[in-house]
Amino acid sequence: MSKEETHCIDTVLVHGTVPFDPVTGAISTPIYQSSAFRHPGLGQSTGFDYGRVTNPTRLELERTMARIEHGKYGLAFATGMGAISTLIKIFKPGDHLIVSEDLYGGTYRLFNEYYANYGFSFSWIDTSDINRVEAAIRSETRALFIETPSNPMMKVTDIRRSAELMHQHGGLLIVDNTFLSPYLQNPLDLGADIVVHSGTKYLAGHNDTLAGFIVHSKDELEEPLRNVQKSEGASLAPFDAWLLLRGLQTLAVRMDRHNKNAAAIAQWLRGQDRVEKVFYPGFEDHPQYQLSCSQSRGHGGMISFYLKNPADVVVLLRSVTVILFAESLGGVQSLITYPLVQTHNAIPEAMRNSAGVNDKLMRLSVGIEDVKDLIADLDAAFDQCKKVNTQ
Ligand SMILES: Cc1ncc(COP(=O)(O)O)c(C=O)c1O
Repeated sequence: MSKEETHCIDTVLVHGTVPFDPVTGAISTPIYQSSAFRHPGLGQSTGFDYGRVTNPTRLELERTMARIEHGKYGLAFATGMGAISTLIKIFKPGDHLIVSEDLYGGTYRLFNEYYANYGFSFSWIDTSDINRVEAAIRSETRALFIETPSNPMMKVTDIRRSAELMHQHGGLLIVDNTFLSPYLQNPLDLGADIVVHSGTKYLAGHNDTLAGFIVHSKDELEEPLRNVQKSEGASLAPFDAWLLLRGLQTLAVRMDRHNKNAAAIAQWLRGQDRVEKVFYPGFEDHPQYQLSCSQSRGHGGMISFYLKNPADVVVLLRSVTVILFAESLGGVQSLITYPLVQTHNAIPEAMRNSAGVNDKLMRLSVGIEDVKDLIADLDAAFDQCKKVNTQ
């Protein structure tokens, strides 16, 4: 084990794998804004040839991601969807995948509207119930794809048991780890085979750039995945790779604050008379609270809640002023989303209803502002709801 590998994640996040540029001493990784790299001679290479294939800034990010996600290999993409779309190409027409029914709507759209046309089949299951997953396994099942906690209902799927189950049947477990980030959860340590991320969220952390990642430790998958990355070209640009490296440097302190703020707001929301139910895995009475504690180091910054009166939705969204009504998560600014018409609108109504994504559901990505200001903002918005909708 090299010296760096013994360092804690907070330290690796700050220093990456190459703490300074060996040529100039620059302590910020240089942005190699070059699409092509000179060959020293025929048949010779510095390891860098063409920017779609690899780039030194991106390589440092990929290595850092592999290290913090406890994998051997990291691949960086222009978006989370670029990463997921690349990953699907390791499978073949005829293959079957089991997928969390309660997951990011864009992933549903990509699988069901596009890959289903190319001979892949998908079963959409509440993966927090391992018996349902087991019942969905077929001879052609090749993978289970989960989000945990799920988006937006905050259900927790057992990573260890899911991995065991898939391995018994010769399949892979893929975990979208966007909601917790490697600071709070490392699915590969729990038996998962592949981790994907929307790097746009906590990893970048500032709502200013898009990125996606695949991290894994499977030698047999590395070449196929690199080949798709190189062939399709959804690779991350050098400047965006640099923004991600900069974002990662503060991931630990940001996640600590996201965690703390979310715990306080979830508790406060529970006491509000306009709120029917709060979904947050950090509540001791959350159905998978013990599981969440056993597989992650915190419950994250995401909260969903049902309003009692759907008419409050429109008033709440226009009344918040610190919290912004916008469709993303994981950044320093708190964002509120209405999943029904935003993140989850690609999901058919029956499936949305079965997952619990209805007209009363709000999703809050708790930022790192002072929690007192966030609570005061929500409080004033609820007062406004009371005025407008008297019941
Ligand atoms: C859990 C999750 N996975 C993947 C994605 C897709 O990532 P991107 O928007 O970076 O393509 C998102 C986007 O919201 C997401 O929330």
